[in-house]
Amino acid sequence: MNKNLRKPVIAGNWKMNMTPAKTAAFIEELKVKVAGKNECDIVLCVPYVDIQTAVASAKGTNVKIGAQNVHFKESGAYTGEISAEMLLEIGAEYVVIGHSERRQYFGETDETVNLRTLAALNAGLKVILCVGEMLDERELGITEEIVSMQTKIALKDVSAEMLKNVIIAYEPVWAIGTGKTATAEQAEEVCAIIRNVIAKLYTKADADATVIQYGGSMNAKNASELLSKENVDGGLIGGASLKTEDFTIIVDAAQ
Ligand code: 13P
Repeated sequence: MNKNLRKPVIAGNWKMNMTPAKTAAFIEELKVKVAGKNECDIVLCVPYVDIQTAVASAKGTNVKIGAQNVHFKESGAYTGEISAEMLLEIGAEYVVIGHSERRQYFGETDETVNLRTLAALNAGLKVILCVGEMLDERELGITEEIVSMQTKIALKDVSAEMLKNVIIAYEPVWAIGTGKTATAEQAEEVCAIIRNVIAKLYTKADADATVIQYGGSMNAKNASELLSKENVDGGLIGGASLKTEDFTIIVDAAQ
């Protein structure tokens, strides 16, 4: 099965939650629970101000740390922004790009998602690239078109070599923070569509090697069914990543 070609990635997206002190306490607890669980990669994408604490707490463990956004310029007059070089220097390995909350509330576009992706990859970060349709788009029957377009634009000028450091997260917007999870079949269908887009842009071997996560109300109860699907290689988890018990159950489901 092609699924065996890929190591699942279970990533928490903390969003705007947790202070540095809470981060340290969380990772102290989590690292014991997930010790030795190496069948999947475990990542926590934390607020910028928590990164250094998270990196220090996770040192020597199997928990990796990421950010939730990055600016696309190397440096300059961009008040309030953070560059890829800054993230790398403080020990971040991953960065979430194009999350629907950034698209909805902060004016993120497919073009800026592409620029951020290129900046992050060129600097040496691994990218968790989010795509997903809104409810009205699903109801209009254009999920495939939307997700394909988002994927194609985000990967413009990304070489096959760079693609090795890209994880795609399929996050249907209607399932985020709503408790309304896509069914395992819906998740599988769209993750397979994304894999097909990658096969066309690159090669089938590249597509088979690309990790494609599902995100949107993934939790301790539904994770194993979602993760059992052929094209679902992990999860990007919001709410349930804020509790070590729940997050550990999801990690276990990916083992
Ligand atoms: P929830 O798991 O809280 O629905 O959030 C999903 C998400 O947006 C992860 O990036």
